[in-house]
Amino acid sequence: MKNNDLLKKHLKNITYPLHEWLEEFYLFEKIKKNNLSEEEYIFLLKKLYIFFNITESIIKKHKNEFEKNKLEDIEQRLQKTKWLVEDLNYLNLDIDNLNIKESIEFKTLNSFSSIVGALYVLEGSTMGGMQIVKMIERNFGNNLPNRYYQSYKQDTMNKWLSFSKWLDEVKLDKYEVTLGATETFIILKKHIES
Ligand code: HEM
Repeated sequence: MKNNDLLKKHLKNITYPLHEWLEEFYLFEKIKKNNLSEEEYIFLLKKLYIFFNITESIIKKHKNEFEKNKLEDIEQRLQKTKWLVEDLNYLNLDIDNLNIKESIEFKTLNSFSSIVGALYVLEGSTMGGMQIVKMIERNFGNNLPNRYYQSYKQDTMNKWLSFSKWLDEVKLDKYEVTLGATETFIILKKHIES
């Protein structure tokens, strides 16, 4: 790690190979190749729901610390589980009846800095969402719900830029942020492949 790297750039550099590894997941490959089935799309929505539900609820516990550190729109940034529920409900899938037994356990998300690392991954996923939403429309037309992938809609890029700027301004432990971001990528990859 170069000591004078700003945090956002540092996180991107460090997690770049993990992002590549995540994108190799066969269902992401199928989305890109335009041959995902409807069942596979729904399977992925359920997997993402489980992941975001658990991860966002861990992050939510630190809401006050985010506000104290001037990320005032933290609550708005924790709506991805809600969007996934909207998509699943649209498909008549009731969360209470999904019969979800899977659980996810993080080992490093135990400080504000490591939690910020996790939020970096969740917020960054909106960048992928902007591409995926186009691929899904190509794949399925308007037949399947994509609220989650639309994230902040026309505000998505602005939200990402303001989060990136905040990362470079807030005082954090660089090692712990890195650990949190890294573990979040790895846990997600393991979870969607299980
Ligand atoms: C097919 C799946 C995906 C595609 C095509 C994709 C694509 C992209 C693209 C185009 C960017 C912008 C890169 C840049 O500005 O240089 C990006 C950034 C990012 N994506 Fe993905 N993505 C995918 C899935 C995911 C998922 C599932 C996650 C995590 C949950 C994720 C996390 C991130 C992060 C953290 C960044 C920010 C990198 C930075 O610091 O600039 N991506 N992705």
